[in-house]
Parts: sequence; structure tokens; C-alpha cells
Amino acid sequence: MNVLVLGATGYIGSAVVDRLVHAGHRVTAVSRSAAGAALPTGVVAVPGDLQDPQAIAALVTDDIDAVVHTAAPLGEAELPLIDALADALAGSGRPLLWTSGVWVLGRTGDTPADEDSPVAPIAITGPRARIEARVLAAAERDVRAVVVRPGVVHGRGVGIPAMLVDWARTLGHGRWVGGATSPRWPLVDVEDLAELYVLASTGASAGTVLHGIAEPGVPAEALARAAATGAGVEPTAVAWPEAEAAADLGAPFAEALGLDQVVTAERARALGWVPTRPSAVDDLATGSYARVTA
Ligand SMILES: NC(=O)c1ccc[n+]([C@@H]2O[C@H](COP(=O)([O-])OP(=O)(O)OC[C@H]3O[C@@H](n4cnc5c(N)ncnc54)[C@H](OP(=O)(O)O)[C@@H]3O)[C@@H](O)[C@H]2O)c1
Repeated sequence: MNVLVLGATGYIGSAVVDRLVHAGHRVTAVSRSAAGAALPTGVVAVPGDLQDPQAIAALVTDDIDAVVHTAAPLGEAELPLIDALADALAGSGRPLLWTSGVWVLGRTGDTPADEDSPVAPIAITGPRARIEARVLAAAERDVRAVVVRPGVVHGRGVGIPAMLVDWARTLGHGRWVGGATSPRWPLVDVEDLAELYVLASTGASAGTVLHGIAEPGVPAEALARAAATGAGVEPTAVAWPEAEAAADLGAPFAEALGLDQVVTAERARALGWVPTRPSAVDDLATGSYARVTA
């Protein structure tokens, strides 16, 4: 396949590009900085701004077999982009994979959410639920439209977990956002997640949602303790009340970090997806985060 990857230079996007190349696919990598980015040999870099839907849709030539979006959220501006890409792909049965996120599900409590659970978006997700619906509607136009919702992504020593390590290094102990009980986070390793995108681009059914989640609900407190271990400081963790965190991080991000979620990935696993990488706790304590700390 020749895959057009939007947001190809980002955290998730660069892992997806690596796995696509590893699986023998050709990649056309799009982002504003694609021209100067370090990309695997053979990847074609095309500088492009997703705020210009017609220019991006024009990249969907006949020799593009799939479009995979892994870019940063653009809010409402994603809607005309999806429409333009759906127009370009309509009637072809070609895949359009769109990255959303697990925070659209809102708080789950103890009952795990799966790919068919109703959404209950929190503030940080903005119009994401509507964006998901717009993507899935493209399935009615013979586009193999699929929404991928990653959990909190770890690996390569970066992303949200790196923030936990920074806090530990600064404070001398771990810290997590929440009250009396620790929230739980659904998590996935970035290399495992990238393998799901490769599988989904060849095998997922039109109009489906896939959860990119390897661990359904890990207490943030355990992650914070592991981050402290990785940072080489006292392996304990304290709660940071959401209102205090909001003053530093902004209310939407603090709410997201304090969100209690248990989320499964049955449909992704039914595709044959088997996450194999180390757990987030191990990654923080002794894996990619510990290595970048040393
Ligand atoms: N990381 C996580 O834990 C996580 C979890 C769940 C969902 N997600 C979702 O996954 C997506 C990717 O996240 P990430 O962490 O990989 O983000 P990231 O590292 O910030 O990467 C974002 C990518 O989008 C590109 N981009 C941003 N604005 C653009 C524009 N106007 N035109 C073209 N390209 C643009 C960036 O490249 P340029 O700046 O060069 O354009 C970069 O390649 C996001 O939608 C995020 O909400 C992430």
C-alpha cells in the first residue's frame, strides 16, 4: 500500500510511519515540518497544513491506497478537512483512519467502556465527538472510514507520562491529579498502537471505532510512583487536588488527568491486535522514561 499519513512527524505519527515502512508499505508523510523531519529512508515528505483542506485532499491521488490521520487536534477545522478527504475517497472503498482519543468517553467508573459505549466528552475533547461522527458517516459513501481512540500513550520516553517524570524530578517524589482515590488511566505503548494502525488500515471494517488500549485502567498513583522510580527519587506519590492542578495546567487538562476510566479494546483485539510491549509502569520505572532520565 501507499499510505498518506497526516501528522506523520508527531509522537504517534512517527511510530505509525515506522511500522508501516517495517511492514513493507510506502508512505507519503504530511505535516507542516515534514520537509525537514528525520523520516525513514524511502518515505516521501510533503509539507502541508491541515488548515487547507483542498490542498490536503489534492494529495489523495489514484496511487494513494489509504489515508491515516494522526495529527494534533484542530477542533472545528477538522470538519471541512474530513469532508474534503471523504469527497476525494468516495466510491473507492479506500481506508480513512482518523485519530480521536479515549477522553471522549468521559468518566466510566468501574464498568469498563468498550468501542460501542456511548460518548460523554469532557471539555478538553472540544468537538471530537462530532468529528468522530463525521468520519464514520463517510462509510455511507463507500469510504472505509475508521476512528482510532488511543488511550494515554507511553513509550519512546515522551508524551504525557514524561510529564509525570518531570514532576517527580522537580518535587523529589511522584504526583498524580485527583482526590481521595486515584483515577485510572487506559494506556497503550506507542509501538503497539502503531501496529494497530497498520492492521486497521488493511483489515478494519467501514464505520467502526477501534480502541488502541493495552491496559484498561492503571491507577495514576501507580504510574506516579513508577515515574518517581524512573526519575531516581523517592518512589512515593501524592495526590494533587484537581482544583490546584487546574490553576497550573488549565481546567480542561487537569480534568482529563483526573478522569477515572476503565476502557477495553475488544474490537481491536478481534482484528488480531495483540499488544506485547512492557506495561506503562515498567516503561516508567525501568524502560524508556528511566533511560531518558539517566
Ligand atoms: N499522545 C497521547 O497520549 C494521545 C492519546 C490519545 C489521543 N491522542 C491524539 O493523537 C493525535 C496525535 O497526538 P500526538 O501526541 O502524536 O501529537 P504530536 O506529537 O503533537 O503530533 C502532532 C502532529 O500533527 C502535526 N500537525 C499539527 N498541526 C498541523 C497542521 N495544521 N497541519 C499539518 N500537520 C499538523 C504536527 O506536525 P507539524 O507541527 O510539523 O505540522 C505533528 O506531526 C492527537 O489528535 C491527539 O489528541 C494522543
